[in-house]
Amino acid sequence: MNRTWSILGLVWLATATAALADEPDKARSPVRGKEAVRGVPAMNPPLWSASGYEEVWKRWAVKEKPADFAKRFRDRYGLHEAPYENNGLPMGLHYTKGLFGKGIVNDCLLCHASRVAGETIIGLGNASLDVQGLFDELPKVVGVPITLPFTGSHVRGTIDPITPVAFLLEFRTPDLELQKPIKLDYFENICSDPPAWWLLKRKKTRNWNGGVDANSVRVDMANLLSPFNSAAHIKKQEPVFADIHSFILTVETPKYPFPIDHELANKGKGLFVQNCARCHGTYGPDGEYPNKVVPLKTVGTDPILGSSFSGKNFDYFMKTWLAQEKGPDGKQIEYQDQRGYQAPPLDGVWATAPYFHNASVPTIYHVLNSKARPKIFTRSFGTEKEDFDAERVGWKISECDRSIANKLPAIERRRIYDTTRPGQSNAGHTFGDEFTEAERRAVIEYLKTL
Ligand code: HEC
Ligand code: HEC
Repeated sequence: MNRTWSILGLVWLATATAALADEPDKARSPVRGKEAVRGVPAMNPPLWSASGYEEVWKRWAVKEKPADFAKRFRDRYGLHEAPYENNGLPMGLHYTKGLFGKGIVNDCLLCHASRVAGETIIGLGNASLDVQGLFDELPKVVGVPITLPFTGSHVRGTIDPITPVAFLLEFRTPDLELQKPIKLDYFENICSDPPAWWLLKRKKTRNWNGGVDANSVRVDMANLLSPFNSAAHIKKQEPVFADIHSFILTVETPKYPFPIDHELANKGKGLFVQNCARCHGTYGPDGEYPNKVVPLKTVGTDPILGSSFSGKNFDYFMKTWLAQEKGPDGKQIEYQDQRGYQAPPLDGVWATAPYFHNASVPTIYHVLNSKARPKIFTRSFGTEKEDFDAERVGWKISECDRSIANKLPAIERRRIYDTTRPGQSNAGHTFGDEFTEAERRAVIEYLKTL
């Protein structure tokens, strides 16, 4: 072979190898998805400046930077230590570069990873998070104070998932190009507690109201609507979100970490099948999940979230690129203006307190005994074994006095769940009220096994 041929051969070999290496890129990769949900590679520009993070203690009424700054930072905003290398930042925040230099931005794990009974769990909704505190106190990267025209969170562990998206979509044409803002609807009182990721694989429709096809990839791309992202940048991230979707489908249900009385659980299983399975499904190898959306009138829990993805916002969202998506079967991904809540699968439900879409009920015992539910309560916001109530299954709480709650500064008040406030009602779902205490205990024991 002469020299020219051998060079051509090498070029061919290189091209062929590159093509081979490219091949798996076309398939969805849960391995890449697992990295992407913590911001590797970064998908958003910084929201906060790196120096602002170092100096945020100046807003905490302390004289100097606390020696345990990183821990105090986590405790103040309800964040958790990262179980991966994260340059000293808590899980859910990461460093990234932007027009104004290096800064910090959140990733999916801010809301979708947490700790319970001493275990850090990726995919568990962050029931401690005070996202409002984070936005109020960390200086924004652009250097001008931006007052957002809505409240992102009213109480720890919940966010308003509708209004911020409406606000960001106002600046976008249906094709996601930037535009002079239009007017969409804002809400005052929506509280939504992020559902656990391990449930997605059992669902045909997702989100608390069951309004979104569970195959949708683009719906989560609403997380990219920062005005610093171009339409082209957003659309280019679709394969990353396909990877993320495939990762979420691999997230496994965490096992109950304390002893279980299996005889009692078996009794509870019978009661569950009789009283609960028609909505929540059955479990184990032949388990079936009915994916039922229960009308607001029937379930009776707080109606605000379950009726908010509708009207003007819904109609505009449906015109955007985000909603123009084909599922794996080639059919249009559907959205429904549902007025109700989907009865969620109860796999790993021991870990997901507080309960209901608005986090208004602290334990499973209280889910199953509506008359005993606490009205105004707080908790340590610690996430160790001693903070977990293994008898009632959920968080240990203490009840509070309304008159005290109202006098506190906002960041302290958000540690108190007040079920008399709009959006935070703990009414409804009275399906366990008829049980005797013994029956209720048996059902709770069974739920620990799921
Ligand atoms: C600021 C908090 C927050 C961040 C950040 C966030 N989410 Fe969520 N997510 C939520 C909340 C709250 C819901 C529930 C919305 C509803 O139904 O009311 C949700 C719902 C979901 C669901 C549906 C779960 C189900 O079973 O119904 C998926 C999947 C999801 N998010 C993925 C992501 C991904 C991927 C990212 C990052 C790109 C992300 N989220 C970032 C708060 C957040
Ligand atoms: C008519 C349908 C229906 C029946 C029957 C029913 N549930 Fe539910 N359940 C729901 C719906 C809908 C929700 C979500 C309500 C919300 O978030 O506002 C829910 C929520 C729950 C939750 C909280 C889940 C979470 O992650 O927050 C638990 C626990 C639960 N149900 C257990 C039970 C048990 C045990 C029974 C039987 C005694 C039962 N349910 C009977 C529809 C039902």
